[in-house]
Amino acid sequence: MSVGRVRPSIEALPAYRPGKAAVQAEQEHGITGAIKLASNENPYPPAPSVLAAMAEASASVNRYPDHLALELRDRLASWLSVGRERVTVGCGSVGLLRQLCMAYVDPGDEVVFPWLSFEAYPISVTTMGGVPVTVPLVGNAFDLRGVARAVTSRTKLVLLATPNNPTGTAVSTDAIGELVAGIPDDVVVLVDEAYREFADPALGDPVSDLLPRHRNVVVFRTLSKAYGLAGLRSGYAVADPEVIVDLDKLLLPFANNRLAQVAAIAAIDAAAEIQPRIDTVLSERDRVATALTDSGWVLPDAQANFVYLPTGDRTDELYLALERLGVVTRPFSGEGIRVTIGTTTENDRFLRALSEVLNDSA
Ligand SMILES: Cc1ncc(COP(=O)(O)O)c(C=O)c1O
Repeated sequence: MSVGRVRPSIEALPAYRPGKAAVQAEQEHGITGAIKLASNENPYPPAPSVLAAMAEASASVNRYPDHLALELRDRLASWLSVGRERVTVGCGSVGLLRQLCMAYVDPGDEVVFPWLSFEAYPISVTTMGGVPVTVPLVGNAFDLRGVARAVTSRTKLVLLATPNNPTGTAVSTDAIGELVAGIPDDVVVLVDEAYREFADPALGDPVSDLLPRHRNVVVFRTLSKAYGLAGLRSGYAVADPEVIVDLDKLLLPFANNRLAQVAAIAAIDAAAEIQPRIDTVLSERDRVATALTDSGWVLPDAQANFVYLPTGDRTDELYLALERLGVVTRPFSGEGIRVTIGTTTENDRFLRALSEVLNDSA
């Protein structure tokens, strides 16, 4: 007999699948020295000033943090040149995604998003009893006209990850603006920019290009990726003040912890120091993409801190062979393999392992 009467939609829900840890791959395959290129993390540790700020703040973790993270909000608002009432902070941007779905999705409401995309989307939508409406990618990129066509009177939200996880392709603010102009303005459009700092700046900035014109656009960003704080959980939203008020009502008490707040402020203060690390990831991404293209791969345009190999039916076979060689990637069964850009040594190791795997299977 089951324990209690769990909601049927939760019983059927797949758990979120994080990237496999290197140590887990080592145990599974009986190997040592595995590297993890599976979670789009920054390969570099936080800047010394960020570590120092955290060390100092750790002495007061006996106290609850500021629930609303007001100092961090102020810092973000001045960094982004927007009013404080337009910014909120969550437990990573996935925490904000959960809040957004709680705020807008009633059972039976539709949420439209391209697919493949971020695996947390269908989970957060289904958690609220919402109906995910997926629009297939075309050539691994978004079909925004298809997204517009999928919007109906039942649609509450549109979710756009740009750059997209896992394919890495991005859309411009012009293209998003066109989409927003063509759908009802009571549909909230999320522009989820977890990888913004790795994308071509010519694609535009939704905070300055879209928010002033469209009250229904919400932008999510994070300190997890480019700013290297994935282990702390600081994501933020920029949106109309009314949306911010509703997101704040749903903020899990103290979700953005004390160290996360302090480190996020220190990381923003250290932006000039962190930028060269982002530049290194970008030049490594281009080097890896060029090496793959030179050996015959046709890759989608890589605008984030990873590359996506469209391996189709061979996905499971190839990712497992890479893993046995100690290179842990993120497979999407039947679709492709996402490989995070690591250090130069790690990227070389991935390229060598891939050519070994392909030679063996030729
Ligand atoms: C598209 C997208 N949005 C959001 C996130 C979550 O980021 P955070 O660490 O801020 O929760 C990710 C992380 O993988 C992502 O790929």
